[in-house]
Amino acid sequence: MNALLVLAVLVTVIIYLLYVLTTRKFDYWKKRNVPYHKPWPLLGNYAKYILQLEYPGHTIQKLCHKFKDQPYFGTYYGTEPALVITSPDVLKQVLTKDFYYVNGRESSDYCGREVTTHNVFFNAGDKWKIVRQNLTPLFTSAKMRNMFHLIETRAHVFEDMIDYETGMSKTIEARRFSARFTMDCICSCAFGVEANTMAPIQGDDTNPFRFMGNQIFEISYARGFKIVFRAIWPSIFYGLGYQLFPPAVDQFFGKLLKGVLESRNYEPSSRNDFIDLILGFKKEDVITGDSITSMKTGESKKITMKVDDELLLSQCIMFFAAGYETSAGTTSYTLYELAKNPEAQKRAAAEVDAFLRRHNNKINYDIVHELPFLEACVYEVLRMYPVLGNLTREVMDNYVLPTGLQLDKGVRIHVPIYHIHHNPEYFPDPFSFQPERFLPENKDKIKPNTFYPFGAGPRLCLGLRFAKMQVIAGLVTVLKKYRMELSDTMPRNLIFDARTFLTQPKDQGIDLRFIEREGWESRKYVRA
Ligand code: HEM
Repeated sequence: MNALLVLAVLVTVIIYLLYVLTTRKFDYWKKRNVPYHKPWPLLGNYAKYILQLEYPGHTIQKLCHKFKDQPYFGTYYGTEPALVITSPDVLKQVLTKDFYYVNGRESSDYCGREVTTHNVFFNAGDKWKIVRQNLTPLFTSAKMRNMFHLIETRAHVFEDMIDYETGMSKTIEARRFSARFTMDCICSCAFGVEANTMAPIQGDDTNPFRFMGNQIFEISYARGFKIVFRAIWPSIFYGLGYQLFPPAVDQFFGKLLKGVLESRNYEPSSRNDFIDLILGFKKEDVITGDSITSMKTGESKKITMKVDDELLLSQCIMFFAAGYETSAGTTSYTLYELAKNPEAQKRAAAEVDAFLRRHNNKINYDIVHELPFLEACVYEVLRMYPVLGNLTREVMDNYVLPTGLQLDKGVRIHVPIYHIHHNPEYFPDPFSFQPERFLPENKDKIKPNTFYPFGAGPRLCLGLRFAKMQVIAGLVTVLKKYRMELSDTMPRNLIFDARTFLTQPKDQGIDLRFIEREGWESRKYVRA
């Protein structure tokens, strides 16, 4: 009896301590007079997302609906205070003007704990600033134009791949299909390697790049749990010895990088690609850039950073991951919406046909400027299906908003992109596909700071130009020959997967029927 009593007391004490521990920050917003949602112990206001029952974009959208007239409100991301900002003006202030204070993405102090998170996407502060400054020259318009011949040859292989696959089955799963093209593009343009991801898959799929892609973007409850765990409680996550990504990823890309560097004799080539850039870094042994504090003080302060193999490897993995998955998703959502909207599809196809007539069935970098309707379709898709439904930032230095609200280092900022993109005040009839919103003559009507497909401020997507180039090249290659329809089993509204922070369709993928268009023979690519 005594033992039972002791056990009961012990359990009660443990539960009480856990309760105190997991709710100790729950007066953060009350103390600051910020309207907030009442949290649940441990799960805060994100229970459905944390338990992987709901896509994060939807979880936050519901939270936003309750505070429609507020520029921002407080929530608890698990146990951690997060400020959700919905006002375009406040967003501009936080993401751009006061960037120095809010320059982190999430769990910033822990990015060095694994190779795969030690890169420009995850890092913050000086580590982010210097690398970002040194990688930026890779993505100028001139660099993209020079690189386009590589995309063109990938588009030729894609043309053959589509013919082969549609010869096997008229119904194609567009997401994986598009990823084979974008993966090939990024491997060719960034590393100068032939990934062969568009070669026919016979029997078991043994392509190592696809295997790595699946490892990085694995969708499972275990991975979903790790993502959330690391984001909210990074010290416990790493303390328990967890890693977000499997070591096989580091090993594979480590070998790949070494092989490519050796094949170039550690000397820059004429390709001017990612490998050439990092060979330059390696030669100098250090990279130099402005300290992030220059953004606070306005005074230029140069600092240097040692370049080691791990730093280079992690950027390499980031290019691969960021380079293919986001663009493949966007390409497949565009094909999906065009399949649902035959009039828009006809208009996009007619624009593609006219481009090819003008350019004698060759594509060049002008595809990013000379196809305004197709480009508008892509932007409308990015509005409806933003890659990140919720963009995160972390306060890196105690910060006072112009409203007087004081935020401490470590507080999270959530930008509810999915919600903002579906706010009827900014985008009337937000669930309908209306590419016309993004035509050059209508772009001015879009309220500033309400459209964030590539993020905003100094952390804006680094690969934006590359993304546009490969997505449009992929779409042109499909549309010039095929008309799309939804497959019989494909729903008209997608359900998003709750196990990933990316906006991805749940289970079913995107199944489309590819039907040959009349006159396609006259639009075959001319190959050199
Ligand atoms: C349609 C395709 C793409 C979309 C929608 C997209 C979207 C995004 C978004 C929303 C962010 C976060 C920005 C922020 O925090 O403000 C981001 C960051 C980033 N993206 Fe992309 N992206 C795409 C393609 C690419 C490609 C092709 C590359 C590289 C080749 C790339 C490289 C990066 C990098 C390096 C960052 C981190 C930037 C930083 O934190 O400084 N992205 N992207």
